[in-house]
Amino acid sequence: MSVNILGIESSCDDTSAAILNKRKILANVTANQQIHKDFGGVVPELASRAHQQNIIPVIDKAFKDAKLNKSDIHAIAFTNGPGLLGSLLVGASFAKSFSLALNIPLIEINHMHAHILAHFIEDDTSKDFPEFPFLCLTVSGGHTQIMLVRDYFDMQLLGNTIDDAAGEAFDKAAKIMGLPYPGGPLVDKLAKDGNPYAHKFPHPKIPNLDFSFSGLKTSILYYLRDKLKIDENYIEKNKNDLSASIQHTIVEILMEKLRKAANETGIKQVAIAGGVSANSGLRNAMLAEEKKSGWKVFIPKFEYCTDNAAMIAVTGYFKYMRGDFAGREITPYTRYK
Ligand code: KG4
Ligand code: ZN
Repeated sequence: MSVNILGIESSCDDTSAAILNKRKILANVTANQQIHKDFGGVVPELASRAHQQNIIPVIDKAFKDAKLNKSDIHAIAFTNGPGLLGSLLVGASFAKSFSLALNIPLIEINHMHAHILAHFIEDDTSKDFPEFPFLCLTVSGGHTQIMLVRDYFDMQLLGNTIDDAAGEAFDKAAKIMGLPYPGGPLVDKLAKDGNPYAHKFPHPKIPNLDFSFSGLKTSILYYLRDKLKIDENYIEKNKNDLSASIQHTIVEILMEKLRKAANETGIKQVAIAGGVSANSGLRNAMLAEEKKSGWKVFIPKFEYCTDNAAMIAVTGYFKYMRGDFAGREITPYTRYK
């Protein structure tokens, strides 16, 4: 049976719509919100308003790209959480209305689950897909987790951050350096011309497979405060080395725990997912580990790392096949379930 799923993502500051035929991408359209740049972070009220402006044009464009009509869609999948409530409500309200108007099933999606299942999206360039079981390091602006993935719907949380997420560590470090939001991609860019060993930042001593990043932020803050006392242009003069060293520290903290998880479970198929998986330092560290330790690594294409609706639609497809549908009384949630 040919199943077409419309996916909607609106959990934070990206409004995205995708149409998939089974797992295959027909359209994936995202509108980024530039409005938050000057505020050093996402402003929830502004994000919600921008979603309301973007959602109809983004969906219209997805239908045009896919060359399909609304009547060709078999189900609508939407992000129901975690995320910002005002943002989630825009996607949820649209999805409910669409499902009611077309009398098609409504499928609710957990955003973090979708980041992991993004590895099963098919496009013209797809080659390998992970086999179960595999490990997935899911690193985004709000989450940092190591998941043991036994099946599409059978996952075990092995490790989690006890404070900030890896993306937050990138963004906060960037903010301390005076870079605009979101700082992660800028740190990545500046790091390309820097020395990762120029500055040393401490690694946290956290037991098991858990993470902590709040100490790193504080140590960068104090380190730069002292340097700025001596030279007020210190950051500007050293921004490449600082970025490279910060990136190297975050990537090493992530990789240490991922290696530990692989050793403890004996699993050698290792994936990364979420916005921070777009980071070139992390991608290179994964490829190096593949050579060194015989891992088989899975790194998503850039467009499926950061928030996108293709991952929502592919997760929707797997739920559709199980008949796992939501009632229209369902409401979004802000925290991880
Ligand atoms: O998954 P995502 O798009 O949204 C959330 O679900 O949070 O992740 C956004 C996070 C932000 O913190 C952003 O700075 C970070 O991913 N990010 C990066 C890069 N691209 C996005 N961090 C480091 N290097 C990158 N290239
Ligand atoms: Zn995300």
